[in-house]
Amino acid sequence: MSLQFSVIPKECCHFISATYSPKSFLISLRKHTCNSCNEKEIWICLHCLHIGCSRYCNGHAQKHSLKRGHPVVFNVQSMNFWCYECNSYVINNSLNVLFQLALEDHTSNFKFYQPLFETYDVKGVAKYIQKNHVKNIIALVGAGMSTTAGIPDFRSPGTGLYFNLQKYNLPYPEAVFDMNYFPSNPAPFYEVMKDMFPGQGKYFPTKCHRFLKLLNDKGILKMVYTQNIDGLESVAGIPNDKVICSHGTFRTSHCLSCHKKYPDTSVFIESIKKGEIIRCSCGGLVKPDIVFFNESLPDEFFESIKNKFDDCDMLLIIGTALVVYPFANLVDHVSINCPRVCINREKVGKMMCYDNLGRDVALLGGCDDIASDLAKYLEWELS
Ligand code: OAD
Repeated sequence: MSLQFSVIPKECCHFISATYSPKSFLISLRKHTCNSCNEKEIWICLHCLHIGCSRYCNGHAQKHSLKRGHPVVFNVQSMNFWCYECNSYVINNSLNVLFQLALEDHTSNFKFYQPLFETYDVKGVAKYIQKNHVKNIIALVGAGMSTTAGIPDFRSPGTGLYFNLQKYNLPYPEAVFDMNYFPSNPAPFYEVMKDMFPGQGKYFPTKCHRFLKLLNDKGILKMVYTQNIDGLESVAGIPNDKVICSHGTFRTSHCLSCHKKYPDTSVFIESIKKGEIIRCSCGGLVKPDIVFFNESLPDEFFESIKNKFDDCDMLLIIGTALVVYPFANLVDHVSINCPRVCINREKVGKMMCYDNLGRDVALLGGCDDIASDLAKYLEWELS
């Protein structure tokens, strides 16, 4: 599997106009499986209304696109357009008509446009959990969950890591974690790694980590998909088989030249503490197995998302700007009537709809405070 990070959305000129009737388009929205297999995660070809499954399944939509030269597809669940030519989510004026049709159809026909919560606040979410006997919660988490542990996030203006890298003269801040840049100038990464390397007793789980552990103790945590590389989920006591380190881990490393694997990165601890460049015995650069831009996510991520979301009955999105893909796509892996609860300083998620009507709710503020309030309304003890 070699999916890479992508940036959205992009202006696209690869779709001009549709020649089928609006009715045919609406009928295609009712189809639930791929034309070639039984997969349910599907994309509709906007050129001919062929229905194919996504790259996470058998890739029939992409195969169709290549064979027929039909680049633009539409996902009914997320209401997104993707262009295989642009290799990106896209916006395009001529798609507006189709988008409006799909939106009206959704509004009048699908359950997820009915209010799921009595109130769109912490109390409403707690009540939903109790009333619906929620038992398979999946949490998608990011750097915001660890800021109160003293670890900066990436994109918060002023404090985020990407705002504090001026001294390295990088061409763009993300270059520090970019495979297209790292080999030519590895020093900034090893400097930054000095502070990021976990397991030195410097950082401890936050209240929000402990809340997830509490969900697990109550038997209602299904999985945590973390973008974080601080390992605090595991320090908090969440079982390792329930945590998918989507952006890899510092625990292991490998040499970029001879591909030698280093099963324990901490053998380099003295160099790490000094911020030195780590080299293999062959002279190549040793890179911890955290995922850089322009690198694929770990196989276990793609394996896990194949079926873990099927019975998810509440999705928590905690402390992430939700702008890095493919992780951000996970919000669309739950069923269309699964509640999605954003616990963050601001509303995130291009595919989310916070209109106090449907299945999405934003609980805004510090995630530790919100976790405390949730525990309080659920009448649970959160230490
Ligand atoms: P970001 O820094 O992009 O986003 C963190 C989000 O958490 C922002 O929306 C903050 O407002 C919010 N936040 C910060 N502190 C918070 C708090 N105490 N309570 C509630 N919300 C808070 O971090 P990520 O989304 O995790 O990838 O970034 C995703 C990926 O981008 C990272 O894994 C990393 C980065 O490039 C790689 O390095 C490959």
